[in-house]
Amino acid sequence: MKNYIVTGGLGHIGSHVVDELISRGDNVLVIDNLLTGKIENKNPKAEFLNCSAYDILSQKVVISRKWDAVFHLAAFSNVRAGNDDPILAQESGLNLTVAMLNLCKVQNIPKMVFVSSVVVEFNPHIPYGIEKDASERYCLYFAKHFNLDVSVIRLHNIYGSPRHDISTGNVIPSFIEQKRKNGKIQISGDGSQVRDFVYYTDAVSAILEAENKKGITEIGTGRGYAILEVAKLFNCPLEFIDRPKGEVDSQVCKKSDYKTTISFEDGIRKALSSM
Ligand SMILES: NC(=O)c1ccc[n+]([C@@H]2O[C@H](COP(=O)([O-])OP(=O)(O)OC[C@H]3O[C@@H](n4cnc5c(N)ncnc54)[C@H](O)[C@@H]3O)[C@@H](O)[C@H]2O)c1
Repeated sequence: MKNYIVTGGLGHIGSHVVDELISRGDNVLVIDNLLTGKIENKNPKAEFLNCSAYDILSQKVVISRKWDAVFHLAAFSNVRAGNDDPILAQESGLNLTVAMLNLCKVQNIPKMVFVSSVVVEFNPHIPYGIEKDASERYCLYFAKHFNLDVSVIRLHNIYGSPRHDISTGNVIPSFIEQKRKNGKIQISGDGSQVRDFVYYTDAVSAILEAENKKGITEIGTGRGYAILEVAKLFNCPLEFIDRPKGEVDSQVCKKSDYKTTISFEDGIRKALSSM
């Protein structure tokens, strides 16, 4: 039985990471400030702490135990909203990343897994990208200067979890919600933007496996789908609106050291059948 801290453990990916650890028989402390996370996502066997990055080292439950690893997933995950609120993007992500790295150093926690994004590679000039890029650099800094064992997972677009909230702004849950509410889907631009979609169970497995990996691993399928192509699968009227500035045209994994197991065809079928 091992002891883990999972930040962002009430979010849609983090809560599945927590569930997997608990089903293995491990103990989990979730740190989450409920920014986008939901209390109903909390595994009943997990402990829960709502505290800010600045207070971590004064939390008895954190400093009185021996931890095997930290899975750090907390961030302001809504990329577009982060463009309008860089302070929130920085506060939620980068500040907590540094705090968690510092906790590992002070408490001699042997491993941290940082969940980053391919935004670092494809669009590092927006607040979400700046935050993730700087967080990765801090991971490198702590690894180099304090000999910390940190591995980084860069995720492509994750979809399929029933807990995926539209407040994160991700395309597939947003399409599901729009169709459910309005019977139609809005597409930014002409829908020619291409993305690489990863079913959430593959992302969760990759994050857990990263405990025993080194370096940076990009998690994608290597196959891109145009947003228009995805929207047509929803079989409802489409409405075209202005595309926000600064979005990249194509984000597809070039090389993954992790083999995804669920094809987009199977994953989207499951996601659509849950509507
Ligand atoms: N969903 C995707 O497609 C995707 C793609 C690439 C990377 N990621 C990354 O994966 C991680 C998880 O994303 P998600 O989709 O589950 O998003 P999510 O919004 O569902 O989860 C993020 C969680 O972090 C919490 N949080 C935010 N700021 C916090 C803070 N300062 N202190 C404590 N908790 C805080 C939120 O309340 C939420 O529970 C994030 O780091 C995100 O950037 C997600």
